[in-house]
Amino acid sequence: MNYIIPSLARVTVNSTAGLVGRPSIEVDGTSFALNGRNVSYRFHVDAQTGDIILTHFGGPVTEDPVQDPSANGGGWSTQMHLRREFPDLGRGDFRTPAVRIKQSQGHTVSGFRYKSHQVVAGKPPLPGLPCTFGGADKEEEGVETLVLHLWDECSSVAADLAYSVFPEHDAVVRSVSITNRGSGPITVEKLASLSVDLPHDEYEMLQLQGEWSRECTRTRRKVDYGLQGFGSTTGYSSHYNNPFLSLVSPDTTESHGDAWGFSLVYSGSFLVEVEKSPQGLTRALIGMNPSQLSWPLGPGETLVSPECVSIFSSAGIGAMSRKFHRLYRRNLIRSRFVNETRPVLLNSWEGLHCDFDGDTIYKLAQESADLGARLFVLDDGWFGDRYPRVDDRAGLGDWTVNPRRFPDGLRSLVDRINKLKVAGSDQPLQFGLWFEPEMISKKSVLYEEHPEWVLHAGEYPRSETRQQLVLNAALPEVQDFIIRSVANILDTVPVTYVKWDNNRGMHESPAPENHHAYMLGMYRVFEELTTRFPNVLWEGCASGGGRFDAGILQYFPQSWTSDNTDALDRVHIQFGTSLVYPCSSMGAHVSAVPNEVTGRVTPIRFRAHVAMMGGSFGLELDPSRIPAEDKARIPDLIRLAEKINPIVIRGDFWRLNLPESSNYPSALFISEDGREAVLFAFQIRATTVHNFPLLKLQGLDPRATYRLDGERTLSGATLMNGGVQLRFGTDYDSKVLLLERVD
Ligand code: DGJ
Repeated sequence: MNYIIPSLARVTVNSTAGLVGRPSIEVDGTSFALNGRNVSYRFHVDAQTGDIILTHFGGPVTEDPVQDPSANGGGWSTQMHLRREFPDLGRGDFRTPAVRIKQSQGHTVSGFRYKSHQVVAGKPPLPGLPCTFGGADKEEEGVETLVLHLWDECSSVAADLAYSVFPEHDAVVRSVSITNRGSGPITVEKLASLSVDLPHDEYEMLQLQGEWSRECTRTRRKVDYGLQGFGSTTGYSSHYNNPFLSLVSPDTTESHGDAWGFSLVYSGSFLVEVEKSPQGLTRALIGMNPSQLSWPLGPGETLVSPECVSIFSSAGIGAMSRKFHRLYRRNLIRSRFVNETRPVLLNSWEGLHCDFDGDTIYKLAQESADLGARLFVLDDGWFGDRYPRVDDRAGLGDWTVNPRRFPDGLRSLVDRINKLKVAGSDQPLQFGLWFEPEMISKKSVLYEEHPEWVLHAGEYPRSETRQQLVLNAALPEVQDFIIRSVANILDTVPVTYVKWDNNRGMHESPAPENHHAYMLGMYRVFEELTTRFPNVLWEGCASGGGRFDAGILQYFPQSWTSDNTDALDRVHIQFGTSLVYPCSSMGAHVSAVPNEVTGRVTPIRFRAHVAMMGGSFGLELDPSRIPAEDKARIPDLIRLAEKINPIVIRGDFWRLNLPESSNYPSALFISEDGREAVLFAFQIRATTVHNFPLLKLQGLDPRATYRLDGERTLSGATLMNGGVQLRFGTDYDSKVLLLERVD
């Protein structure tokens, strides 16, 4: 047998917890090892073909595993047995490729061979795209980047694979760039950010699929022979599928087993492909959606892919999620609010929709302050003069205040609102405002003046959704208009929070490549506005969670998780979203019952407890129209939300019981220093003559002593191995318990 055992064994095993004392990137000739604390990612250059061959991506190893890469019994092709890091097209690898280039001669064959490499300290930014950041200097980070330069000598096209290692997070981040060094034009038809070939084994794939009001539904299925996949063609990451994939072993659970997570740092259309090959290898690809790419590259031009963050955990899906959360809080979200507690807010949408005037808004703001909210948010319906936005049929694009609703102007309203004092304090009530700047109504001055700014394809009718069209943000003049419109308001009105909404998908794109050009345009807009207004708390939104992705997190530290505020559904949606995104980034509000979307009635305590699991807790109701006893409970619930918010924002999240499989979903947040924790426990349905289950906590120090809800003290060992039996009453009962380390 032809065993391949390369060297690279210059590292030390310090404990079973992982390998320490080794550089983040080790290079031995043309063999490479990327080392995280608990992960190894290793590949080398095949001497004959110049191809990059993966040898290991998983738990820490000190050398390549013993392996015989050739197929048992030969086979029909020259490449199907290979674990290729950048599978190109047309030379015998019949699996789905990571790259497809239409060369200037018209064919789509590529042949990339290793040419050289370089290692750079830290993490270089990606031009025009959101991306993780990190330094090599800071002792706790040790981020380094390896760039492999590949070259196709037949087409004179270069490909650079950039791998950055975040050793503390067991994360390897990859992006790819293609440069046309030939003399004729080429078209990049497909460019996956990640392509990885896992060895012959059984895997399951975990994804977050859904719809409007049902975002991030956790779905798990077997990886079987053939091609499976999902993605978005909506122009945005979408409600349908989130740009995230996890591969797990069949026996992997929340707290046990191998889990690989792949998260694309991108907000546009994307594609995930998982292919189990005839020889049993599993290939996973994730990147921009090739059906909407066709990116032309003239001589000397480059296309850079978004990056994909890959994280490995051998301790189950929960540990994988926590690594994503920490990485995204520390090395992706740029906002100064990332670690700050968020002001409790009251948003006008579900309470008033577009049906208000200056007086009703001021009254709602007064009620907000009286209940203890710190921020009042004026949602849709405040703008438009010739075509006032009094419902969803007009006004988008005309970002000036409606003079009939607010005769004294927005500034004067906000000045009055700022004079209101938050109950129990002398703090002024802050003001936040809703925008939907990427959109345009046909009934708007903007459409009359600039019909050419709308996405359109020749003579095809410009099809409307929710009576609106999409501005073509690929055009610099549209980007400038959006920046100007939003900045005009922020420069003249003391707005401390912006909700950036986006309520329809893209139709009638003028060209396939316009989709990516649109996203690049929007990233320019986000970059410019968030840099110019760093003290504004920006919240993303797209009919709920239609653009909840790692790309948007770079600019907006939080997003509206779903338009579905039904607390039972929200348990599923928020648990699902937390698979990859930190709870600090979720907006979660208490609304009135019966719920607007589901018609379900749940107690206010349950609604509030569920919303407290999101970093940005708020109310979305008209207090004058809810039962007096519910209203009376709100101030205490706000106080509790504020008390625990620092742990929700900065702590680690442990999903204890999943809502898909338990009548008692539960979760624990543990502060970074381990001294405080908050336990959330829910009962969905009341049962009769049943014992309540013992809820076993996780993540505590077994030797430490904790005080549970200000009363009993128990060891971490007892809390985790013995558990706590909680007594519940009716349907939708809930508890939020505090734990304090006392030794
Ligand atoms: C959709 C958002 O998700 C809602 O929260 C609300 O802002 C409406 N748009 C307003 O039109």
